[in-house]
Amino acid sequence: MSAKATVEAPANIAFVKYWGASDLERAVPWEASLSMTLRTCVSRTTVEHRPEGGGDEVLVCGAGGTLEPPERAFAGGVLAHLERLRRWAGVAGSFRVATENTFPTGSGIASSASGFAALTLAVVACLERRPPAAELSDLARLSGSGSAARSVLGGYVQWPADAEEGGTGETAAWPWTAVQVAAADHWDLRDVVAVVETGRKEVSSREGHRRAPSSPHYARRRELLAARLAEVRRAIEGREFARLWPVVEEEAIELHLIAMSSRPPIFYWQPGTLAVLERTRRLRGEGLEVCFTMDAGANVHLICAPAAEEAVAAAVAELGCGVIRDGVGDGPRRLDEHLF
Ligand code: PMV
Repeated sequence: MSAKATVEAPANIAFVKYWGASDLERAVPWEASLSMTLRTCVSRTTVEHRPEGGGDEVLVCGAGGTLEPPERAFAGGVLAHLERLRRWAGVAGSFRVATENTFPTGSGIASSASGFAALTLAVVACLERRPPAAELSDLARLSGSGSAARSVLGGYVQWPADAEEGGTGETAAWPWTAVQVAAADHWDLRDVVAVVETGRKEVSSREGHRRAPSSPHYARRRELLAARLAEVRRAIEGREFARLWPVVEEEAIELHLIAMSSRPPIFYWQPGTLAVLERTRRLRGEGLEVCFTMDAGANVHLICAPAAEEAVAAAVAELGCGVIRDGVGDGPRRLDEHLF
């Protein structure tokens, strides 16, 4: 008999970025990162386990509810992760997978984080396994998308956890697991995404991680990260926007500085990106609690207080960008409705 489960997992936006890995295939980071889990930008994934086998099948939801074969690179990543999860669970048989995103895929809104978190959780659910969250986060990371390790948890999430919080290092039970540092209801922050570009980025995050150490600025970045992480954790703990924003913007700029100075260089920014950064600075000058950050793409996430959200969204629309209104969320959830 086949079993089916559907899980919705959100994307996340990092305040302290993961950029560069000591092991790219298994997404082992050099340093810890910290993100806010979102609630509107999500991946929904249905997985059916067929004990009789027949080969794995991966589909994406197209316009009008049709199920279509995905791009080859995406399918390859999903098939490899299914194989890994099959070994982890010690089961035979095959999986049928269908997935959809509520936001543009592969354009720097962490679709790999939400996608691989949803896939991992849906496989585990349809096999009726109940591992602890720490193990789930570690399993998601093995997909090769490190940020997926953060998307299995809600609120504000650090990955890997500090040693005393259960993470970091081969000797921990689940090495490089993530940990929630604060729940979503601890601090209601919003994320207004300025969609500058909906196309797929030309250079993948994987390639960006690979090139990062070739930047002459990368070694210095690694020296600075521990202090930044501590500052962001203090800001979250005390809900202090004034403490948070300088580090968040510094981190975003530095990720792109490293990308632009890698060999060969990577330029994710578009002219529209710079226009949004400039507008953000002006909004803050007018007294709004808002700051910018970006992942590996041209789009800009404007992190703001609830009171600033309306004005920030209006300003972004005025610049001619698409607007996605998001905010901190509680993390993945199981759905009763399946995609097939
Ligand atoms: O999880 P990956 O391998 O797609 O890398 C994500 C890297 C950034 O999104 C750019 C930064 C981060 O920490 O999320």
